[in-house]
Amino acid sequence: MNQTVIILDFGGQYNQLIARRVRECNVYCEVLPYTTPIEKIKAMQPAGLIFTGGPNSVYDQNAPHIGKEIFTLGVPVLGICYGCQLMAYLLGGVVSPASDATAREYGKTQTTYQTSSVLFADEAGISWMSHGDYISAVPEGFTVTAKTDVCPVAAMECKEKKFYGVQFHPEVSHTENGLSMLRRFLYDVCGCVGDWTMENYAKTQVDAIRQKVGDGRVLLALSGGVDSSVAAALLSKAVGGQLTCIFVDTGMMRKNEGDEVEAAFQNSGMHFVRCDASEQFLQKLSGVSDPEKKRRIIGEEFIRVFEAEAKKIGRVDFLVQGTIYPDIIESGLGDAAVIKSHHNVGGLPEHVDFKEIIEPLRLLFKDEVRALGRELGLPEYLVSRQPFPGPGLAVRVIGDITKDKLAILREADAVVREEIEKAGIPANQYFAVLTNVRSVGVMGDARTYDYMVAIRAVTTSDFMTADYCKIPYAVLDRISNRMVNEVKHINRVVYDITSKPPATIEFE
Ligand code: XMP
Repeated sequence: MNQTVIILDFGGQYNQLIARRVRECNVYCEVLPYTTPIEKIKAMQPAGLIFTGGPNSVYDQNAPHIGKEIFTLGVPVLGICYGCQLMAYLLGGVVSPASDATAREYGKTQTTYQTSSVLFADEAGISWMSHGDYISAVPEGFTVTAKTDVCPVAAMECKEKKFYGVQFHPEVSHTENGLSMLRRFLYDVCGCVGDWTMENYAKTQVDAIRQKVGDGRVLLALSGGVDSSVAAALLSKAVGGQLTCIFVDTGMMRKNEGDEVEAAFQNSGMHFVRCDASEQFLQKLSGVSDPEKKRRIIGEEFIRVFEAEAKKIGRVDFLVQGTIYPDIIESGLGDAAVIKSHHNVGGLPEHVDFKEIIEPLRLLFKDEVRALGRELGLPEYLVSRQPFPGPGLAVRVIGDITKDKLAILREADAVVREEIEKAGIPANQYFAVLTNVRSVGVMGDARTYDYMVAIRAVTTSDFMTADYCKIPYAVLDRISNRMVNEVKHINRVVYDITSKPPATIEFE
C-alpha cells in the first residue's frame, strides 16, 4: 500500500490542483470532503493531512468546520488559506474578519519567509494570495514563519506537533517555489518516501487485476483516446488472452486514426475487434444538422454496435471503464446548465451481461494516465493525443454530414495538426472545422464556389475555460496556403479568435 496523504476539501477552487501537485511529488493522495468521518480518516493511516482553501470566513454561519479531534491523531497537518485560518481558529488563535481588515490580499504578493522553518529555503519571494480574513494572532505554541507588508501571518507553524499553515497558495504556479514548499512538507514533515510512481502503479494494478479477474473474460470499448488506450494496455498486460477490445470505427475519426489505433494493439496478445460501422453511422446521421441530435444519435448507435459485437464474443464477466480521478472528484458538484451533452459516448451498454466493472484508472489524473501509458510502452502518438470529442468529426462538420464533407475536413484537419505541431505552438487543442458556408473565390482564372474552413486552436488547462492561441501569422499563412492548394473544395480559411467563454472550444 502506498503512503497516503488526505486532502480535506473545504470548497476551495484549487482542490484538484493541490492533489496534482502532491502526486507530482510522487506521493499518493486522495481528496475527501471535510465531512469525512474521523474513523475513516484514521483507518486510512494517512502520512499527512492537507486542508484546502475555501470561499468562506470561519465565522460564517454555514462555514465548513471540522472537529478538533483531527488535531489529536498525531498526523502532520498543512492548512492552506481557509484551511490555515480554520486551524488557527480551532486551536485558539484569532482570525480577524474581512470587515476590519487592512490585510485583504489578492494576487502576487511579495512575502518574507523565516528560513528556520523546514518549509522555506528562501528568505523572500512572490506568493499567490487570495483572502479576505486574516490571522491576527497565532494559537499558543505556534510561531509566525512568513509575513507580507499587510499580512502579519502569511505562514505559521507548531513544529513540535507538526502543524503548518500558509495563508497563500503554494499549489498555484505563481507562488515561487510553491512546489518545493509542498515537497518539504511531504518529505521532511510527513516522512513520505515518494513511493507513488507509475512503474509501481503498473505493477500493483497488474497483480490486482489478475487476482480480481481470475479466469474471467474481460471486455473493453476502445475509442483510441488516451484513457481507453491506456486502460487497454494495462488490462492486456494483466490478462492479455482473456481481454477483448472492441474498437467501433464510427467513420467520424480523423485521418489515419483508425489504422493507428489498430497498429498499436494488433500484436498485443488481446483479442482486438475493429468494427467498421461508418456506413451505418452516416446513414443514421443523414440530413441531421442539430448538434445535440447528432450527439444523441452517435451515442445511441455506438452502444448498439458495441452490444452487437459483444454478443458475438459470448460470455463477459468484467467490463472495463476508463474513468479517471477528475471525473470522480467532479461528480456530484451541483447542477450546472447543460451546454453540450459531452458524456454521451461510451455509456454503459444495457444489453450486455457482466458481473462487475473494472476502473483501473480511477485514481489517476490525466498526466498520470499518460505517464502510465508510456510506462506500458504505448506509442507517443496515442499517449500524448489531444482530446477528441466522442462524436468526433460529426461536431466539426457544421450542419448536415456527408461522406464528401468528412473527407474534406479530414484532409484540412491533418494540415492544421501537422503545421501546428511542426511549429511547436503550445496549443492544447487544435483542429479544423468545416463550416457550412460556401463562398466565391478565384483560382487560376476560374471562379470557385467552395467551402470555408475555420482553424481552431486554444490553450487551456481544464478545457472549461480556454484562450484562443496567438498563432504567428507565418504559421497561419502556411496552413492557409496548404489547405487551399492541397485540399479540394476549400477556397477560404479563417481563424477563430474567440476564447471560451463566450465561445466553446468546439463549434457545435
Ligand atoms: P466545449 O466545446 O464544450 O468542449 O468547449 C470542451 C472539451 O470537451 C470536448 N467535447 C466533447 N467530448 N463528447 C466528448 O467526449 C462530446 O460530445 C464533446 N463535445 C466537446 C471538446 O473537444 C473539448 O476538449
